Amino acid sequence: MPGVEAGPATSRVRACLGVFLAGLIISICPRGVSAQQSSNYDSQVTALLAQMTLDEKIGQMTQADSVALANKSDVQRYFIGSVLSGGGHGPADLSAEGWLKSCEQFRSWALKTRLQIPLLYGIDAVHGHNNVDGAVIFPHNIGLGATRNPALVEKAEHIAAEEVAGTGIQWAFAPCVAVVRNERWGRTYESFGESPDLVSEMGAAAIRGLQGSQLSESSLVLASAKHFVGDGGTTDGVDQGNTVCDEATLRNVFLPPYVAAIKAGVGSIMVSYSSWNGMKMHGNKHLLTDVLKGELGFKGFLISDWAAIDQLSPDYKSDVAVSINAGLDMIMIPYGPGQSNNYIEFIGDLKELVGEGKVPQSRIDDAVSRILRIKFQMGLFQNTAVDPNLTAAIGSPEHRQVARECVRQSLVLLKNANHALPLAKNVKHLHVMGQAADDIGIQCGGWTISWQGQAGPTIRGGTTILAAIRNTVAPGVNVTSSATGENAAGADAVLVVVGEMPYAEMDGDRQDLSLSQKDLALISRAKDSGAPVITVVISGRPLILDSALGMSDAVVAAWLPGTEGQGVADVLFGDYKPTGKLSRTWPLSNEQISGQASAGQNPLFPYGFGLTY
Ligand code: BGC
Ligand code: BGC
Repeated sequence: MPGVEAGPATSRVRACLGVFLAGLIISICPRGVSAQQSSNYDSQVTALLAQMTLDEKIGQMTQADSVALANKSDVQRYFIGSVLSGGGHGPADLSAEGWLKSCEQFRSWALKTRLQIPLLYGIDAVHGHNNVDGAVIFPHNIGLGATRNPALVEKAEHIAAEEVAGTGIQWAFAPCVAVVRNERWGRTYESFGESPDLVSEMGAAAIRGLQGSQLSESSLVLASAKHFVGDGGTTDGVDQGNTVCDEATLRNVFLPPYVAAIKAGVGSIMVSYSSWNGMKMHGNKHLLTDVLKGELGFKGFLISDWAAIDQLSPDYKSDVAVSINAGLDMIMIPYGPGQSNNYIEFIGDLKELVGEGKVPQSRIDDAVSRILRIKFQMGLFQNTAVDPNLTAAIGSPEHRQVARECVRQSLVLLKNANHALPLAKNVKHLHVMGQAADDIGIQCGGWTISWQGQAGPTIRGGTTILAAIRNTVAPGVNVTSSATGENAAGADAVLVVVGEMPYAEMDGDRQDLSLSQKDLALISRAKDSGAPVITVVISGRPLILDSALGMSDAVVAAWLPGTEGQGVADVLFGDYKPTGKLSRTWPLSNEQISGQASAGQNPLFPYGFGLTY
């Protein structure tokens, strides 16, 4: 394999030269193309491609789920180029070491293949490395959008990259650059907000954080902007639904974050389950090939979403043909032997389709070239061992400190009557109400250890809001708490933590976004105590506050802050004066949430709203 080895053996020298040349190119390139786009490894890619059989090529286009791959040796047998772990799918041992061990096993099978093309392992690290027990969990994107601080987002995503890299995984399916237009959508929190400009700015910052400027560094990972395109604009906010608008609107509202992502050098883009004007995105050649790869000059590769091609038609083989011909380069396949539409079937179907002339050889070569180019850019062929310092730093105090800073800056102060906030640290008696006040799982939300997320101490480390309050008050202050609201009598202030239980895609869609009756009853009980009422809302989206607003002296939107609840206490006690601004308009009523429109003419709080002390 002289052609293959020429790459790795000389790649360090080439990389240095590449950086130098890239610098030159950047200085003369008007569109600010990043270093990794400029050093394109064309000769290595061509040399390697020339040696590959059709089976080896198709293997590179196949991404199988780690659970579907019951037999890890199938990576070798079918030349599988990529493995993912879907939400909640992972090794039995979810510690960093457990992940590292499992990933290394998968990777070792790829190195047993004839050409030893390294495996690319991907995961949904969407608010930190959220499938790993003990990782730091950052606020979900809706909160990061409220910080209006791209430099902080870049820093946070760089930490996420380090934690991902520390487990031997090289690819994060992030950032989600959905422009959210209807909060009924259960993925609203995965969006940085409703403004194309804000999402573009934050998405590009996230990509810089994940990929850096030289993707081959061991602490960096490949990013994936998702879900292309229009996922946040579906009618009634239905997940995987239909976005109805003309092309000019699509280009003005939903496309800009991809223009920014490509400019930031994003190496992969995930296609959306959703449809545009009734046509599934996974079959949309105009947008995938003509617009994204042609007009916008995207040089990375396109990955399909989880079994998304299966939705194109009842016939899987035709789905394979349509999606690959539309421009998909790698297909994400959750199923294994014994299930339909599994990775073996995909490989067989695609091979037949090439033989029948229904998928041109040139399309295969283009797809594989794109994937190999990224693998070269990432330095995967050097097979460097995972830096143990990265593994050791997973969930470190330094990482948590940055997440705490994100939390502080993400909180939006919606109301503050009678100077209810900030709280004095030396009040005599503070009463804290609500299950969410003392629950790491609830404050992290969906995509945390499990796919949909769940209440309870599901992840090691971190600080609940209640624990953070206890850390913050002066010695001797009586902090009492009750999940259901008893014992508020005599308190100097009552803090009520209300909001949403964890959810993710599909299950998170809701027609009625009112606070629950239980939450309203809790706030009303707090009000009965006669003490000032401070309501903290933990939610993935604006909720209809109704009477909660009047009953509360202060209201803080804390979104889904993640593990670092200390950041919430920092704001409540004035160690940090609120700076967060709404990234999504806050509607007054359920009726106001309709169709494509933002939250109507007279929202409760407009986009950009946020008080301070
Ligand atoms: C989601 C993606 C995710 C993928 C892999 C899909 O259902 O839409 O956002 O990256 O699963 O878990
Ligand atoms: C997987 C997720 C995936 C979802 C899609 C789940 O079983 O764990 O990663 O996004 O299915 O339906």
